[in-house]
Amino acid sequence: MSNIEIVNLWKVFGNDPEIVFEPENINKTRSEIQDEFNQVVALRNVNLSINPGETFVVMGLSGSGKSTLVRALIRLIDPTSGSILINNQDVLQYNNQELENFRRHTVAMVFQHFGLFPHRTVLENAAYGLEVQKVDTEARNQKALEVLELVGLSGWESSYPSELSGGMQQRVGIARALAVEPDILLMDEPFSGLDPLIRRQMRIELKKLQQTIQKTIVFITHDLDEAITVGDRIAIMRDGEVTQLGTPEEIVTNPANSFVEEFTFDIPKTRVTSVSNIMVKPSSQEFDRRYVVAPESIVEDMIPLVLETGDPIPVVDSKDELVGVVPQEKILELVAQSARQEYSEE
Ligand SMILES: Nc1ncnc2c1ncn2[C@@H]1O[C@H](COP(=O)(O)OP(=O)(O)OP(=O)(O)O)[C@@H](O)[C@H]1O
Ligand SMILES: [Mg+2]
Repeated sequence: MSNIEIVNLWKVFGNDPEIVFEPENINKTRSEIQDEFNQVVALRNVNLSINPGETFVVMGLSGSGKSTLVRALIRLIDPTSGSILINNQDVLQYNNQELENFRRHTVAMVFQHFGLFPHRTVLENAAYGLEVQKVDTEARNQKALEVLELVGLSGWESSYPSELSGGMQQRVGIARALAVEPDILLMDEPFSGLDPLIRRQMRIELKKLQQTIQKTIVFITHDLDEAITVGDRIAIMRDGEVTQLGTPEEIVTNPANSFVEEFTFDIPKTRVTSVSNIMVKPSSQEFDRRYVVAPESIVEDMIPLVLETGDPIPVVDSKDELVGVVPQEKILELVAQSARQEYSEE
């Protein structure tokens, strides 16, 4: 598992990027710099620390710098200044050999448009990264079968991409990335090309898959709903800058500025509030073991339980100890708030 440290990272596109760093220009806005000097500040002093095994979402509108950021991570583009440390090594200092190694083994990318080879079977597509590494046929097919099973595509090995639905094709894309056993998975809007229904399914599948693979994932999206479903933490970008960084719960319940608020206002609180934030002290240690929730569960997911069981609902930690209870009224309060939110939108 890998950690990623992004320090004071800038990317200025244009023929004279240094002009942006002149003291009299450094505080100019992106549009001022574009108007005056015809340079595009795609990343402005980005600082991020991404933890091993976390799903880290980068969210923002079109043009906010999301792709530039992930591309910089694998040096498909060279940043103008700053540093990128992956496993404590400065990626920007790699020589060609080190860079090749890094791209083959440490990181793998999943693209929006799948990028599968049409004349290769599903198996051959999944094994592609290993073929590049010159792993022998038997070993790479073995690994490809394994990752295809992981993404739920067993039985499709000899099909061609055109015979698969969009969602299935992207699962091949994910399998291909996983086959090389990378530490880090970079996903640039991987589900944007899919129908809304399939898209929602894929988010949930990715979340489940991540529980098994526990990779460090950097996931790009322009959809806050998607960010909340898949992300442990979310960085919201605007004009090349990180304008807020936090858990889905922090971002939705406490937007840092009106820009973030605009994004978050239609997300129901029940979708992001964790049980630990609304539980209260239990009055006794007795509880019904059939109906328990974990402290990190999301309130929305426990609503069916509320309808089924008595009041209050016991909260039990991983050691099977009672750590709190959730009174039904707390849940109803949140549900009512969310409903009011929805109502006020219309
Ligand atoms: N090669 C390039 N040359 C000049 N400008 C570029 C280049 N690549 C990106 N840009 C500019 O940098 C800014 C950030 O682009 P980027 O592709 O990172 O945005 P994004 O957040 O990924 O957007 P989208 O959601 O549309 O994919 C944009 O203003 C874009 O026009
Ligand atoms: Mg992009």
